Amino acid sequence: MTEERLAVVTGGMGGLGETISTKMADAGYKVVVTYSPSNTKWKQWLEDMRGRGYAFAAFPVDVTDYDDCAAKCERIHKECGPISILVNNAGITRDMTFKKMTKTDWDAVMRTNLDSCFNMTKQVMDGMIERGWGRVINVSSVNGQKGAFGQTNYSAAKAGIHGFTKALALEVAKKGVTVNTISPGYIGTKMVTAIPKEILDSKILPQIPIGRLGKPDEVAGLIIYLCSEEAAFVTGANISINGGQHMY
Ligand code: CAA
Repeated sequence: MTEERLAVVTGGMGGLGETISTKMADAGYKVVVTYSPSNTKWKQWLEDMRGRGYAFAAFPVDVTDYDDCAAKCERIHKECGPISILVNNAGITRDMTFKKMTKTDWDAVMRTNLDSCFNMTKQVMDGMIERGWGRVINVSSVNGQKGAFGQTNYSAAKAGIHGFTKALALEVAKKGVTVNTISPGYIGTKMVTAIPKEILDSKILPQIPIGRLGKPDEVAGLIIYLCSEEAAFVTGANISINGGQHMY
């Protein structure tokens, strides 16, 4: 049944996004990845993926731009089919202390991490409701749950994502559509390895009881579960996957 289902993964060429895309394809979904229009390496990425046996369709989508999301989702629908699963994964950091943060840094993070959830979900929800089946998975962060030094913008956007999830989950609960948040902790991707090593070693790793960074595969596995039939009763949830870093 899953072979028929089309999943769109925003930021699907990024660190976590790439693993989500490949694992979902391995699980039998037809996967469309979206990438930032500023990404100049998309052709090479697609070629590398083809070499690994993945024939992804890919579209440049500026997730901060509502009209671009509308136009590209219409193209995806026409060229690839109806979208049954949306993984709102695209995200950026602009880490700095509040004292140094400018309005530009604030806006960039809010628009890419939070506005994007509205801009993309708006394009797919009516179709999911009409077909009586859909899955929206919003990728938040442990730092949206607990806050993080140097991340007032990111923590606010990631916390906002779960408010969006809960309200929308209520509205569509009877329509066969689930909406969930996942909150990964520190996963071994470029976003995390970009943190200064001394901060990672002295401030972050000691907070993770499991004693290591998470693996992108582990996050992808959770997303695949949320897409499954067995997860039909899970909606409005915020599922932590953080090695025990934050429990509540
Ligand atoms: N907790 C407590 N104190 C911290 C801290 C932390 N996490 N990070 C830094 N500090 C302290 C430093 O030890 C330092 O203290 P002293 O002045 O007493 O020495 C002070 O804050 C200033 O630190 P920096 O010298 O690093 O200041 P900076 O202005 O150069 O950089 C920063 C600030 C950009 C926030 C930098 O510390 C940093 O990158 N921190 C990591 C932020 C982070 O965790 N980002 C997560 C990215 S991964 C992600 O977001 C994915 C996800 O969803 C989990």
